[in-house]
Amino acid sequence: MDSFIDRVKAKSAVVGVIGQGYVGLPLALVFAEAGFRTIGLDVDGKKIAALQRGESYIRHLGAERVAAAVKSGRFVATLDFDRLKECDAVLICVPTPLGKHREPDNSYIHATAREIAKRLRPGQLVVLESTTYPGTTEDELLPILTAGGLASPKDFFLAFSPEREDPGNTKYSTRTIPKVVGGINPESTEAACLLYRAGLESVVPVSHARVAESCKLLENVFRSVNIALVNELKLTFSRMGIDVWEVIAAASTKPFGYMPFYPGPGLGGHCIPLDPFYLSWKAAEHGLWARFIELAGEINTEMPRYVISRLMEALNQDGRPLRGSRVLVVGLSYKANIDDTRESPSFELIELLKAGGAVVDYCDPHFPEVPRTRKYNLSMKSVPCTAEAFAAFDAVLVATGHDQFKDPLLWSQVNLVVDTRNLIEPLFKDATIPGPKRLVKA
Ligand SMILES: NC(=O)c1ccc[n+]([C@@H]2O[C@H](COP(=O)([O-])OP(=O)(O)OC[C@H]3O[C@@H](n4cnc5c(N)ncnc54)[C@H](O)[C@@H]3O)[C@@H](O)[C@H]2O)c1
Repeated sequence: MDSFIDRVKAKSAVVGVIGQGYVGLPLALVFAEAGFRTIGLDVDGKKIAALQRGESYIRHLGAERVAAAVKSGRFVATLDFDRLKECDAVLICVPTPLGKHREPDNSYIHATAREIAKRLRPGQLVVLESTTYPGTTEDELLPILTAGGLASPKDFFLAFSPEREDPGNTKYSTRTIPKVVGGINPESTEAACLLYRAGLESVVPVSHARVAESCKLLENVFRSVNIALVNELKLTFSRMGIDVWEVIAAASTKPFGYMPFYPGPGLGGHCIPLDPFYLSWKAAEHGLWARFIELAGEINTEMPRYVISRLMEALNQDGRPLRGSRVLVVGLSYKANIDDTRESPSFELIELLKAGGAVVDYCDPHFPEVPRTRKYNLSMKSVPCTAEAFAAFDAVLVATGHDQFKDPLLWSQVNLVVDTRNLIEPLFKDATIPGPKRLVKA
């Protein structure tokens, strides 16, 4: 413990970050920028090669930060897991997806743990950052790490600290978002807190890794349930002829006890659509049904189909069937002003429209082409973000509210807009030009 503390205090400790994705890369940069020698490890040769050239493949992160870290000599990226031996701290940021039947897939964590175990040496700290169900760190990671005979806290420290990355957030960053940390024993909590305090602004110790694991799930379940609530209220109010967006704006004037959440075409991003099911799966093992989580999942998952049904009704009023109609999906990212399509509902919207026989295009200035994902291979190219291009469609479906779409001129010649983000109405509030011929908020 002493040597670990001394090395962190002297900033001579080496920090290894396994998984150089949306979470791992900014985390590695933060430690490099705080003065630590940092090693970024990944199994993806293309990512490592880009990082070695000092390039960022995450646009909102800024290439200059990666370039500066590489140039400083404090950040290296590698495919060579033997370099884990050099690390005093090893932070795990690998994916935790859901399987085909929405069951947790911890295989990446297990594979990473086996790589660490082969090289584990006394005095090291291992921290899991990947989102997972309570118990993973102690029940699954610890046995793999101790298989070679080392024990915690005698030989090494083990903790969980959830990542709270919010891509595109300009107010908070990896360094300034408070970091919850829980070890499998008090010594591990202390060691992990010491390291994070050396790189981040604010660290929040909790009594155990299980609390830290649960904390992350509470945060995401909270969002998923509240989004489902406003999505359901959108359906209810819409049937009553009441605009849910106006209701939310009015409720938001209450200075206490209310926090706005907004409806949309479905859930997106790496966390909210996936993480809650890690908890409901684990709850079933304890004979419990996490009904709020399941219900929220059911409502949110239905949203893309609901939006398409509203679009079909609107086309029908124009005397058009969906089959053969030209439909433009506006926005591919899962949220505004970021170049991130993970779990974006736009993919499902495009697929549902195609399945219904529509002639589908999309527009997203962040994506000239649709990136290939594990689930979708759409091979489409973005239409230009111009009034002429938009006017050529029978219907335009707003899925993401990028700033580039906030020019009233883009919309005034459009025949029918189905807006899932309340993008259009505010644009024409004080505009001197006419809005689209017809606007449906869905
Ligand atoms: N992106 C977010 O906003 C966010 C926020 C909070 C928590 N999380 C959680 O953080 C974890 C990582 O998410 P992410 O968004 O960074 O994912 P990501 O897909 O962007 O990055 C994961 C990286 O891990 C690499 N990888 C996969 N298997 C590996 C292995 N065996 N060894 C080394 N590297 C390996 C991949 O090549 C990839 O570069 C997940 O558990 C996620 O739920 C993500």
